[in-house]
Amino acid sequence: MEKPRLFFGTGNAKKLKEISEILGDRYAISSFRDLENPPEVEETEPTLEGNAILKAKAYYALTGLPTFADDTGLEVDALGGRPGVYSARYAGPAGDAVANMTKLLGELEGVEDRSARFRTVIAFYDGQALKTYAGELRGSIGYTPRGTKGFGYDPIFFPEGSERTLAEYSADEKNAISHRGRATRNFIEHLT
Ligand code: IMP
Repeated sequence: MEKPRLFFGTGNAKKLKEISEILGDRYAISSFRDLENPPEVEETEPTLEGNAILKAKAYYALTGLPTFADDTGLEVDALGGRPGVYSARYAGPAGDAVANMTKLLGELEGVEDRSARFRTVIAFYDGQALKTYAGELRGSIGYTPRGTKGFGYDPIFFPEGSERTLAEYSADEKNAISHRGRATRNFIEHLT
């Protein structure tokens, strides 16, 4: 039997790899690499939910396939939840991970409360049902980047109770506990 096909609206190859590994081989995933000129949907909403919905609807309109999209933010308690929905553009429009981490470590200089969480919202739209699923990972921000795996803010994020940063976790270890892993498993439960 042919596997159900879903479209994942992301241009981030690392997100695609993580989500494909979490979803396993029950679904066939199409993504930007299957489109000729994938348009980047601008994230204009003030919430993760809003942006995930915006992307899911836009890529559904483009592909006609049941579509999901995620938006993720790093919410730092001492910064009142910033950078949050603006995590990608925190240090400027280029979305440069090193610049973003440098800016965050600078803002937290001398700050003792390092607690933070990653939060992912996945939106699913198939032309009828519109649903959102969330997942979070609590932890704290370190003092210098460590590790080479993962992406984004992983080198400065210590999951709660861990002495390793997320960038020192294997892909499987990260998927087992991560915000994206949790949101994706919530989403799968709805699909099956
Ligand atoms: P977006 O969901 O692509 O808008 O991601 C927002 C920002 O958070 C970007 O700077 C990403 O690099 C970063 N980000 C998203 N997911 C993760 C993750 O799993 N670990 C670390 N950083 C992430």
